[in-house]
Amino acid sequence: MSETKNETVATDVTGRLDVAPPVDAVEATTPGAMEYDYTNFYFGAGSDPFALLQPFDDWWREVKPAGYYLYELPLHTAPGTRVDVEDTKTGELRRNLVNFASYNYLGLSYRPEVKEAIKEAADIYGGGSSGSPILSGTTALHRQFAEEIAAFKGKEAAMIFPTGYSANVGTIAGLMRSGDLIVADQYAHASIVDGMILSKAKSRFFRHNRPDDLDRKLSGFDGKKLVIIEGVYSMDGDTPPLAEIVEVCRKHGARLMIDEAHSAFVFGETGKGVAEDQGLDEEVDIHLGTFSKSLGGQGGYIAGSHQLINYLRGFSRSRFFSCALSPVVVAGLRKALELASREPELRTKLWENVAYMQQLLHDRAVPMGDSTSHVIPIMVRDDARVFAMGEEIFREGVFINPVKYPAVGKHKSRFRMSISAAHTREDLEEGAEKIATVLRRYGVCP
Ligand SMILES: Cc1ncc(COP(=O)(O)O)c(C=O)c1O
Repeated sequence: MSETKNETVATDVTGRLDVAPPVDAVEATTPGAMEYDYTNFYFGAGSDPFALLQPFDDWWREVKPAGYYLYELPLHTAPGTRVDVEDTKTGELRRNLVNFASYNYLGLSYRPEVKEAIKEAADIYGGGSSGSPILSGTTALHRQFAEEIAAFKGKEAAMIFPTGYSANVGTIAGLMRSGDLIVADQYAHASIVDGMILSKAKSRFFRHNRPDDLDRKLSGFDGKKLVIIEGVYSMDGDTPPLAEIVEVCRKHGARLMIDEAHSAFVFGETGKGVAEDQGLDEEVDIHLGTFSKSLGGQGGYIAGSHQLINYLRGFSRSRFFSCALSPVVVAGLRKALELASREPELRTKLWENVAYMQQLLHDRAVPMGDSTSHVIPIMVRDDARVFAMGEEIFREGVFINPVKYPAVGKHKSRFRMSISAAHTREDLEEGAEKIATVLRRYGVCP
């Protein structure tokens, strides 16, 4: 672990860890440094590919203690509703923080049944799968799990990927080619965008949740067309107007893919996702999701027709040129899926918690954006001070991630709050009050 001028990195896990006094980093930075962001270090002159490393390093050393340190803070506990987190700026281990930063929407990652399944699989299979899924990496667990996902989603077939990221990249680039057209919602996740780039198809973006703009973007193109939307948008927590989008896709003969990373296993009567919730599950051609959110594990899937899965088995390079998920992870996921299926009360509890938190935030006049889900953005819109607020919220005892440009648009800074079925009312009340207390200091709420 390293040590720089203004920061101390913890070397111990037992309470107070600092070996140097904390520094007021906001004051320590030169004027203007915080005006820069990652995009300033993307292009640069010169012939050395390393030309940007030194300027980036100089900038990073300066601004990291002023707020960027809030990223990659090591947890010392499971991603439960309360977490112990290392404060790499002061060296303290901050204990029992209310956690709104982890996905784990159903609280499944640390359920005793899941842990037990993982231990049993470790005894049989060891740590890793040691092979690509098409060579030696597919275990009986992988095969069973793919079938269980297909059955859960009510589709003919499903295929498992090492991450949700690689599911998007492999599916999009596996299906679309140079000369084709892909149109995605402008708020599409980076993994969708990267799949579009890799496919070399013509890429367009339609205005967020605007079927009329999708219609325009699809017009006048004769070749193969794929439209990509999300079930719940990860930075805004809102859902798509699926009926209108399906209608536009039909009009133009476009195929429709939905990324239900944040909505599978929580939305809909049986938990299939937003497409089920809006009564349009059969109208979507490609159903994609992750296991890293509601199932609290890792990995991604696509589900659809036999033919689709069979084709992509041969053309999804991110899957077959990558080691299969660890069987240990798959065992935990199988158990998590079983629990999510047989305990619909988890979803009921989640939605009760979401309604309660919305009420708590509303009562405190905390600006929430247009979320209709368990992902609630707290819109502070103050790029210059979002990190300072984040630092104070963290010190008050709440773990929640600040988000600023380029992850979201300029002047759209926010804290992204993830609600879990596992949160208690006390967690939610304490969290809402502490966040509002800090936001009041900054005039974000009255
Ligand atoms: C919409 C969306 N798709 C895909 C992913 C990638 O999933 P994973 O983190 O499981 O790789 C994410 C991750 O946050 C996401 O929000």
